[in-house]
Amino acid sequence: MKTTYLDILKQRRSIYNLGKNVTLPKSDIDQLIESAIRESPTAFNNQSTRAVILYGEKHDQLWDIVANRLKSEVPTEKVYAGTKHKIDTFKAGFGTILYFTDQNVVADFEKQAPLYATNFPSWAEQALGGAQQSVWTALAENEIGANLQHYNPLIDGEARIAFDIPANWVLRAEMPFGSIEAPAAAKTYMKDDERFRELK
Ligand SMILES: Cc1cc2nc3c(=O)[nH]c(=O)nc-3n(C[C@H](O)[C@H](O)[C@H](O)COP(=O)(O)O)c2cc1C
Repeated sequence: MKTTYLDILKQRRSIYNLGKNVTLPKSDIDQLIESAIRESPTAFNNQSTRAVILYGEKHDQLWDIVANRLKSEVPTEKVYAGTKHKIDTFKAGFGTILYFTDQNVVADFEKQAPLYATNFPSWAEQALGGAQQSVWTALAENEIGANLQHYNPLIDGEARIAFDIPANWVLRAEMPFGSIEAPAAAKTYMKDDERFRELK
């Protein structure tokens, strides 16, 4: 049995201690991310997933938008200090991938395949999950850590203006990535016999 893929899957973890010590050229990182998304399956091959990769000032700008936006949402200065600290750990990374669903694609396929119309929104989410997992794993294979955040829809309006996002692209997740400055803690797993059944 070949397990190389599973070994790489196990390397993918949520890395919260990110840094800027990435040696892989940005063009290679772009290629990794874009290939992983391109090769990920989508319903009817409708290719509903979109991504914007932010580096440098654009990456910083995103996390400043998140920090400023949350200031008015959290109840006290003390809570905000914790929130700000968390956001700074994302900003400490090398870049961020913004993931979107193209709502025009979803709407088109709802019309084109009316029998399955109600499935297309959740299929777009499932496709996005597959793409995120592939990107995350491809980065891990290259010793680049990442985690997955969801400050959408709070930041949608400001991010749309800041990064010139088309109106039909709906922000679904933010994935900061960078050098792995500290490994993830050990992970716990539920019991296999409560999770899987093999009928032979
Ligand atoms: C759909 C989905 C949503 C998630 N949302 C968040 C999130 O908003 N913030 C966060 O820190 N982690 C988020 N995570 C990461 C999970 O908490 C993490 O994958 C899980 O605890 C397992 O840890 P691991 O990634 O190290 O294997 C999300 C993961 C998935 C699959």
